[in-house]
Amino acid sequence: GARKDFQASKQRLLVVANRLPVSAVKHGDSWQLEMSAGGLVSALLGVKEFDTRWIGWAGINVPDESEQKTLTEALAAKNCIPVFIEEEIAHQYYNGYCNNTLWPLFHYLGLPQEDHLATTRNFKSQFEAYTKANQCFADVVSKHYEEGDAVWCHDYHLMFLPKYLKERNSDMKVGWFLHTPFPSSEIHRMLPSRSELLKSVLSADLVGFHTYDYARHFVSACTRILGLEGTPEGVEDQGKLTRVAVFPVGIDPDRFIQALELPQVKDIVKELKQRFTGYKVLLGVDRLDMIKGIPQKILAFEKFLEENPDWRHKVVLLQIAVPTRTDVLKYKQLTSQVHEIVGRINGRFGSFSSVPIHHLDCTLDFHTLCAIYAITDVALVTSLRDGMNLVSYEFVACQAANKGVLILSEFAGAAQSLGAGAILVNPWNVAEVASSISYALNMSADEKEKRHHHNFLHVTTHTSQGWAETFVSELNETIVEAQLRSRQ
Ligand code: F6P
Repeated sequence: GARKDFQASKQRLLVVANRLPVSAVKHGDSWQLEMSAGGLVSALLGVKEFDTRWIGWAGINVPDESEQKTLTEALAAKNCIPVFIEEEIAHQYYNGYCNNTLWPLFHYLGLPQEDHLATTRNFKSQFEAYTKANQCFADVVSKHYEEGDAVWCHDYHLMFLPKYLKERNSDMKVGWFLHTPFPSSEIHRMLPSRSELLKSVLSADLVGFHTYDYARHFVSACTRILGLEGTPEGVEDQGKLTRVAVFPVGIDPDRFIQALELPQVKDIVKELKQRFTGYKVLLGVDRLDMIKGIPQKILAFEKFLEENPDWRHKVVLLQIAVPTRTDVLKYKQLTSQVHEIVGRINGRFGSFSSVPIHHLDCTLDFHTLCAIYAITDVALVTSLRDGMNLVSYEFVACQAANKGVLILSEFAGAAQSLGAGAILVNPWNVAEVASSISYALNMSADEKEKRHHHNFLHVTTHTSQGWAETFVSELNETIVEAQLRSRQ
């Protein structure tokens, strides 16, 4: 449980993450701030009881200094501080090294071979851009740092940040948390810069992961690749201990539960129920990313329709595919692939009056999202790999009335926490997912109630606020323990 030996509301916290909770869009002369997508944002939005500053990339190229100033002012109202990165570096850092190298590798999809074989220089310049971008973040953190602040670095985008921060100020309290899986050391060792990245992360005082397995993989990467000693507390290098621990993230459940009480949300719920009268609703909400297993999920639904003719025209799959990383070629290819499969299945099983799959390439506003979660009978979260997956948590939070079923990939971190309430599946096994859909649709009310109860209890007691308090409290404690050790 959280050791709340400090007052979170007073503690100054610098959250440093690639993405800010809002993304800036230019409208004429003014800036519009739109909510960003992704699990990290969903989690950190629920962290309210700290005196927080959020430092991150503005997600947009702003070369003009006076524009940088107006954007900085607009973001300050949201306690956000932008990091400006020159366009080409940002491109090579974000689209290149982060999303085309680290992201697929950490999700067991290997390294991008074509870049290595055809343009090795490309890989080198992407890595250099990654180091430069991390320096830009370190500059902004140093500028805003005040003594006693807890500096919490997030994710695979910022693996060099702990090292750069400690080089500038060895007294800084630095934590680093990974929102993705940390892969088996056998996978991590493929990375050309495997050692530098590990060593830098070890400069942090506390390193956190969602699950015990990810933490174990990280420690074995440090022992096997760097030859360091793994201890029950973490990793030791010449007497210096880096704490490694597990902090499973959550959401802010009240945000969802309260939204369902709003009249405008109730109206959307009513409209959707009317729209889908006579149908059972299956739902997928994913960023359109290869790790989410969207093609496999849709193929499983096709198999279900094939094998269960009685269910045809009585069930519909709503797949919300949130556009993401659209400048990376593989993401563009995935969009076409998914569209092709959806078109084929709708052509095969559709009729003049009904189509089995409603596939939308869009981001839903928060109220519509809550309403869709609430009217869903079966949610399909079938990621091939996923750090945690908070869509599964959000769905559960909105199901107090309906008690819908969650079909959940055993390769998502959430399987460790919602496994007893969900139907766990191997997303690669299309036949297994198809039969789980059938099982979920035919499930008794009693079983649904029991499964939902288990998950709802977990989601409402393991919140993002608790996650952050536990991490920061542990970070404070780690520093005190290190000081005591050094005096001995
Ligand atoms: O939740 C994991 C994560 O990788 C975040 O770090 C990231 O912000 C999110 O998914 C969405 O990806 P992106 O920021 O590239 O849009």
